[in-house]
Amino acid sequence: EGNYIVVPKGLVNVIVDETKISGVDPKGEATIYRGYTIEDIGEHASFYEAAHLILFGRLPCDEELKEIRSKIDKYRGQIPEKLFDAMKHVPVTHPMFYGIYGTALLGQYYAPEWRFDEDFLYDHALRLAAQLPVIFTTGWNLAHHGTFLRPDPSRDHAWDVLRMIIMREPSDIEARAFESTLVLYMDHGFNASTFTTRVIGSTLSDLYSAVAGGIAALKGPLHGGANEKAMEMFLDAMKKAEEKGVPLYDYIEEYIKEKLARKEKIMGFGHRIYKLHDPRTDVAAKFVAKLKDGEFWMKVLKKAEEVMWREKKIPANIDLYTAVLYYQLGIPIPMYTPIFAMGRVVGWSAHYIEQVLNNKLIRPTEKYVGPTGLKYQPIEERC
Ligand code: SDX
Repeated sequence: EGNYIVVPKGLVNVIVDETKISGVDPKGEATIYRGYTIEDIGEHASFYEAAHLILFGRLPCDEELKEIRSKIDKYRGQIPEKLFDAMKHVPVTHPMFYGIYGTALLGQYYAPEWRFDEDFLYDHALRLAAQLPVIFTTGWNLAHHGTFLRPDPSRDHAWDVLRMIIMREPSDIEARAFESTLVLYMDHGFNASTFTTRVIGSTLSDLYSAVAGGIAALKGPLHGGANEKAMEMFLDAMKKAEEKGVPLYDYIEEYIKEKLARKEKIMGFGHRIYKLHDPRTDVAAKFVAKLKDGEFWMKVLKKAEEVMWREKKIPANIDLYTAVLYYQLGIPIPMYTPIFAMGRVVGWSAHYIEQVLNNKLIRPTEKYVGPTGLKYQPIEERC
């Protein structure tokens, strides 16, 4: 209209900028992390390698891997003591608020004065990747157990984070499964929370504020919150199946159809871009199969997918599989979305840096369709 472009609500299918970090392929065959497929990196890369790839654009060589590993592990152990104290005063709220609160506190400690030189930006990206998990685990365990486990910087990042969440030492396969989900969650094009961090970066605000905004956007059940809702759905279905004396595998079809008949969304299904398949589910499925009750859960998951494809032609997304995988690890359900943030914080940081280093303030315009021509009236003439 004139020199304006009107786009669909929700920016559906609108390309708002270019990025070299990742791209989501609607067919689910070529979702790319800096040139590699997401499933290739999800299956094979460690958290350190994937973080190096997403942040710096390439898989690390020996020296680079040693350097990023020692920085992340060192930073994980360097949370300011005052931050642990501050977490003691946070009431038992939704764990995603711990992340927003703790990230704002870190921003105050580390970066009262913000700069835009690359070394400074990447250093804070590594600090956040290392310390955001500790904020979530400390907040959750303090609120629910009155105690928490401190990080052990001598251990592998994913293993140590999982240990702090479940308050016990994970097995190697448990730690690798958990690490793989952090890598699969690490980045995903211009999803709602990443776009949020880019908008905040485009005003030249700081990275901690941008990540706090990303966590706030991820909290919603249409985005990161779906993995928690998906597990709650499975547990509700399990309870109802037991009441009926039938196995969950046999009952899940009826359960899903009843929800669809009530026009309810089935959490863990559907996606703005993936209309055929979310490739991340294939990697997560390999780990579900290897963890506790793997065979039982794989049968249930495949049946749920079969029903949703037959009824609605809607594929599962990663959240359906990580929900089950985190349940198999004994992770409390309210920590599922915080774990999504523990991986995605690396992607948010990479996008924030890409935005600010080649910036244009993101400020769309609007078509005003409200009333016009009204005049102020004193209250006695108004009501
Ligand atoms: C993530 O964007 C990303 O990349 C996100 C993410 C990432 O890594 O960052 O991949 C992570 O957020 C995955 C998605 C997690 N969310 C859920 O699982 C919540 C349930 N999913 C839906 O709410 C929905 O699929 C969205 C929000 C994910 C996408 O919705 P769109 O693109 O806005 O499409 P829509 O809601 O308009 O749905 C189109 C149709 C509708 O039917 P009609 O009203 O036209 O008849 O499909 C139906 C919807 O009702 N539909 C569903 C459904 N998802 C869509 N029906 C039942 N269950 C569902 N899950």
